[in-house]
Amino acid sequence: MEQYVIKGGNPLVGEVEIGGAKNAALAILSAAVMTDETVTIDNLPNVRDINVLLDAIREIGAKVDRVGEHTVKINGSFIQNLTVDNEFIRKIRASYYLMGALLGKYKRAEVALPGGCNIGSRPIDLHMKGFRALGATVDIEHGMFLASAEKLQGTHIYLDKVSVGATINIMMAASMAEGKTIIENAAKEPHVVDVANFLNSMGANIRGAGTDVIRIVGVEKLHKTEYSVIPDQIEAGTFMYAAAATKGDIMLKNVIPKHLEATTAKLLEIGCEVEEFDDAVRVVASKPLHHTQVTTLPYPGFPTDMQPQMAVVLGIASGTSTITESIFENRFKYVDELTRMGANIKVESNIAIINGVERYTGARVNAPDLRAGAALVIAGLAAEGITVVDDIYYIERGYENFEGKLAALGAVIEKVSSEKEIKKFTLKVS
Ligand code: UD1
Repeated sequence: MEQYVIKGGNPLVGEVEIGGAKNAALAILSAAVMTDETVTIDNLPNVRDINVLLDAIREIGAKVDRVGEHTVKINGSFIQNLTVDNEFIRKIRASYYLMGALLGKYKRAEVALPGGCNIGSRPIDLHMKGFRALGATVDIEHGMFLASAEKLQGTHIYLDKVSVGATINIMMAASMAEGKTIIENAAKEPHVVDVANFLNSMGANIRGAGTDVIRIVGVEKLHKTEYSVIPDQIEAGTFMYAAAATKGDIMLKNVIPKHLEATTAKLLEIGCEVEEFDDAVRVVASKPLHHTQVTTLPYPGFPTDMQPQMAVVLGIASGTSTITESIFENRFKYVDELTRMGANIKVESNIAIINGVERYTGARVNAPDLRAGAALVIAGLAAEGITVVDDIYYIERGYENFEGKLAALGAVIEKVSSEKEIKKFTLKVS
């Protein structure tokens, strides 16, 4: 088991390069098997979830060539096996994208039901509703999601709830259905648009991605393409909030400022300065931070994946703030850990009431999930003294070289794997 050990108190200053968007990349890699020609995907983040998915894609017979740390070539013509199940794939949420991809191409898919971060119940009823509307028979048996169809027929689908996963999955399957599909109340997240652009670059006919009505005209075949994944708005947001919490000054490179609007708006509200460039953003936190109100919402609202990082910043901002979590009901599990670092936060139902304290103090804490884990690292960077974050396995699912990027900004942080190394670090920095 590895840990991050952090000596807090240093403002983060300098430049950081943001990687490709994990959540877009997971869907794009799955969609890449939908053609028999070779697809090249660039700007992939080198993180655990991506590597697990690539292994699963390899296991069903596709040819996967890692031609560089951030580039892969995939050829789906060798696929023999339409059953996706291994001990790792069950741990990642995005395994469900192989359902839409395989169902679209082969009209059959058997995929182990997804796991992922434990941030609340994560049903897949809307994915199933979409596949059924396209004419597939869909079942869940022995922990496996099973779908098959003689043929997929374009149709009209209304999503009862805005779901990123269901929108993308239906979009993939409908790309190879007969006729026209209309998805209403579709998710508008940047990665929905990125996946649509990717599919279109393979010859799909998708219009309206980024609005709440997506129109897809099915095609018989998809072809090769070369594609670069968009920058990760959540990795970027995490560094922006790390700048705020540590009173730092960070220039983030390789970002799309438009995708960061909600994240940026809240930073401005609490007293930070944010300067936008074409593909960069600078965050300066030189003034005292103050309270605000936040509600998580589907894009372009405030992202639920930034909620824990926001809470960490508001925990040391003056006054009383509230965060309302409207997407996932179980996303405040980090609050007990943050309380051990001195935070004053009370959770009532889906609202966290945060009374800002002057500072955090270092403690030993557990990362309960990916984004909350990153948020606890930010708290450690802002805290007085030493913080040890356990279970960083979660963080590594979605952040590439997190400790390296933070250290380059002046953070005192190391990845360790034993109590002995924790002691050694403590002696070295004290
Ligand atoms: C994706 C992201 C995740 C992010 C979330 C919301 C990936 C791999 N993960 O997750 O990081 O936090 O979007 O931006 O891209 N729902 C249903 N039925 C369904 C599907 C979803 O009721 O069939 C509900 C969920 O419980 C949740 C809401 O819809 O309350 C939104 O979930 P969704 O957008 O589907 O999240 P994911 O795609 O799983």
